[in-house]
Amino acid sequence: MENLDWRQGRRRVKHLLQAEQTYGEVFVQGWLRTVRGSKGVTFLALNDGSCLESLQIVVGEGSSAFATASRLGTGACVGVRGEMVASPGGGQSWEVQAEQVIVYGEAGEDFPLQKKRHGFEFLRSIAHLRPRTNAYGAVFRVRSQISHAVHSFFQERGFVHVHTPIITANDCEGAGEMFRVTTLDPENPPRVDGRIAWHDDFFGSKAGLTVSGQLNAELFATAFTDVYTFGPTFRAENSNTSRHASEFWMIEPEVAFADLADNCQLAEDFFRYMVEYALEHCREDLEFFDKFIEKGLIARLEKVVKTAFQTMSYTEAVERLQSSGQDFEFPVEWGCDLQSEHERFLTEKIVNGPLFVTDYPAGIKAFYMRQNDDGRTVAAMDLLVPKVGEIIGGSQREERLDVLQKKMHDFDIEPESLDWYLDTRRWGSCPHAGFGLGFERFLMYITGMENVRDVIPFPRTPGNARF
Ligand code: 4AD
Ligand code: MG
Repeated sequence: MENLDWRQGRRRVKHLLQAEQTYGEVFVQGWLRTVRGSKGVTFLALNDGSCLESLQIVVGEGSSAFATASRLGTGACVGVRGEMVASPGGGQSWEVQAEQVIVYGEAGEDFPLQKKRHGFEFLRSIAHLRPRTNAYGAVFRVRSQISHAVHSFFQERGFVHVHTPIITANDCEGAGEMFRVTTLDPENPPRVDGRIAWHDDFFGSKAGLTVSGQLNAELFATAFTDVYTFGPTFRAENSNTSRHASEFWMIEPEVAFADLADNCQLAEDFFRYMVEYALEHCREDLEFFDKFIEKGLIARLEKVVKTAFQTMSYTEAVERLQSSGQDFEFPVEWGCDLQSEHERFLTEKIVNGPLFVTDYPAGIKAFYMRQNDDGRTVAAMDLLVPKVGEIIGGSQREERLDVLQKKMHDFDIEPESLDWYLDTRRWGSCPHAGFGLGFERFLMYITGMENVRDVIPFPRTPGNARF
């Protein structure tokens, strides 16, 4: 049971509103969402972030706090001491009749968050204030709880949590989307024969911010069997879409002695666990999303908990797309990467639910994926879901040293750069598999928010790293 009122002498709004009986005299602290005056009485709506609902504070003309309360504006920060009484109005169970109002911080009429509904785009421009709104308050409470659920799921199953590095020299996905980390003087880097001398750089070689913790997680899986990493991930891809962030969080389990089917099973169990967790622990916030962001959200989530996920090979997916009669912007043919329009069509129109697409052509997937016996596909899987499209990417890994070496050669990857990785295949190699779930995409899925920028506290996207 959470202990919201951990500080002696202060109540959190959530506990107070859920109380079965009055606590008598209480002290609360928070920020004012609204200030309303009517004849001889001022109403303050006080919110402390513990829940969606605000606490009604009533300041009567007879109270010594009346003069102070009456000049307060929306956004001000206050502490209130008073009697907790049953609320006569229908809106809420309890209210507080103020005897004392302490003003910590005033907010003038220029406070940007006024009572009217603001657009998300405007709110993104005031990222330092947006958590004080209903929608973002709900998003970031849910984000915190689901982050806890990630750890519960894996810890309950005996997985070891590995902190994989943020600074690294390996470009796991091989897409060349790494941000460079360097201490060389950009105006005047040291050069040898006209080329930049990276060996003189801080780490003695080119280094960057991680695009995935997978390769490091694989090393630990060959010692601890079941591991996971959950951390920030960075991609310098210049795609300004509603589903790509330059900094996002990814959950990556890696499991020894597992094949592609085991991997899909784990992904499905994990996904369902997190949706159930949200339905159970984030009810009030989900009801808000259901009402104001996406009608029918809760029914959609309840349905997904009960539905078995479907699986389709890439080859079949291509055939289904081709025979659908749908006019796509990018034509579909075997060997092409699926575009988001294709992914959305498969999951939304063809199966109408979560769909694993497996066994992609080797050429469009990363070097580490296990080669299938047909010689042209790899044991890859993507989980596609309605509204979001690709939410998980994973695979069984190539555990055969010779096959992996040949693959790296074909992909122009220098074996020396990944010698430490190849060592796991030299000594005690084992079949293993894993995947990555984009945490923000999952949050979009369970909140109904349509832009990745609205589910991460301080979004980083091309052209924007403010705040
Ligand atoms: O499919 P991706 O690139 O897979 C990997 O990085 C593997 N190494 C994971 C693994 O097998 N351990 O990324 C995994 C997921 C995607 O399905 C997507 O949900 C999310 O990460 N993702 C992004 N989310 C937000 N912004 C971006 N730019 C993202 N790129 C990927
Ligand atoms: Mg992917």
